[in-house]
Amino acid sequence: MTTQIVILAAGQGKRMRSSLPKVLQPLAGKPLIEHILATAFAISKQSPIIIYGHQGDMLRRSLSHHAITWVHQAEQLGTGHALAQAVPHLKDVDQVLVLSGDVPFIQKDTLKKLLANTNKEMLGMLTALVPNAKGYGRIKRNIDKQLIGIVEEKDATDAEREIREINTGIYLFPAQQLKAWLPQLKNNNAQGEYYLTDVISLALQEKMNIATQQPANLQEILGVNDCADLAKLERMHQEAAAEKLLAKGVKILDPKRFDVRGEVEIGKDVIIDVGVIFEGRVVIGDGCYIGPYSILRDTVLGTNVEIKAHSVIEGAEVAAHSIVGPFARLRPGTVLHEHVHVGNFVEIKNSVLGAKTKANHLAYIGDSEVGSAANIGAGTITCNYDGINKHKTIIGDRVQVGSNSTLVAPVEIGADAYVAAATTVRKEVPAGSLVYNRKEEIVRPNWIKK
Ligand code: UD1
Ligand code: CA
Repeated sequence: MTTQIVILAAGQGKRMRSSLPKVLQPLAGKPLIEHILATAFAISKQSPIIIYGHQGDMLRRSLSHHAITWVHQAEQLGTGHALAQAVPHLKDVDQVLVLSGDVPFIQKDTLKKLLANTNKEMLGMLTALVPNAKGYGRIKRNIDKQLIGIVEEKDATDAEREIREINTGIYLFPAQQLKAWLPQLKNNNAQGEYYLTDVISLALQEKMNIATQQPANLQEILGVNDCADLAKLERMHQEAAAEKLLAKGVKILDPKRFDVRGEVEIGKDVIIDVGVIFEGRVVIGDGCYIGPYSILRDTVLGTNVEIKAHSVIEGAEVAAHSIVGPFARLRPGTVLHEHVHVGNFVEIKNSVLGAKTKANHLAYIGDSEVGSAANIGAGTITCNYDGINKHKTIIGDRVQVGSNSTLVAPVEIGADAYVAAATTVRKEVPAGSLVYNRKEEIVRPNWIKK
């Protein structure tokens, strides 16, 4: 017996008012459905089945890195009709775990409990007691508290609408029986749909035991129907992420202005100022400070690194005691060794800067290898691109590059060399030499008056 997961995701998501299918809307930097798939893969090794309707090509393309069984529901005739499309893929011996594509926070532990409490002769359901049941199907029970059915809000009587136990849309079915029930569903209800919830009545008619399970946390069952829901869930997710880090001793100055869109690993005595965004995989060593409104993506910081306000750092490695920003941009392939200083309006791409090197103002360093203790003056540009190819600039240890210099790659400047201000360097500069371009300074006195 295996657990076959089926994710219902064919609904159009009209209320999102977006050209992107609902399940591809991003939450914490990844599509809604990726959150559910991560949980699905943690529960069952069997490829999950996704029931899709609209924009199938886009969906398949964005999830092509996963092993998924795709099942098309050409017309959205209801949740029961949706699940019926999966029948040819269900083995009689399977237990079928049904999830919704728009309920992203459902947790592995809750589903595992549902699986543990539902043997294969039973039907399992995840229900929840909520303060506001609006929009959900209500769980009906008799005076012995036994489940006797589910009624959709649109079909419910006033008394039934008072019920606060709701159907989460997450179920566990024995496949063999499910296959017999699905073709019996009728659409004679308020919405003219084939309701999956009606399967419960069929199960009850056959005296099947139904196990209900509550989620550990009510957030787990929240669904996304519109942009307001999405924003609400995003903040919940981010505040929970911030709380976890705070508990580990990370000093997040304002947990409400903190976003992780990926994974972070953060050392001791780290301070994260307001408005910081982490994307992809970010590793931060002990004693670092991340200044306000900085964005770090796929980056590794050593210990005691200081990132000042408004810096944008992607695909970089920054070693201990370096200082970056404010307003610095480190692009992929940037490696800063220890005690490097990179200041405002400096852009670095695919380059290594040796220990104690400084580039403090207004520079572009691309495809370069810079030694240690060098100083890159304000306005220095490595001209790495000739319109067709990218070329390398090599700058030796302790080189002083004067302000406003233009280094035309491929070019090499030897150790201890001195590049005078405003020099255009086109040829190799041997170690220890001075390089400048002969440019006359001409002053004409009283020129304005004339
Ligand atoms: C459903 C349940 C309701 C429950 C609620 C929980 C039914 C009849 N009702 O209602 O009891 O409280 O979920 O959130 O099942 N879908 C398809 N094809 C379709 C219709 C829907 O794939 O033809 C998918 C949707 O994309 C969605 C899921 O099924 O992921 C649920 O559908 P939705 O229309 O949102 O159902 P609700 O009215 O919310
Ligand atoms: Ca819904």
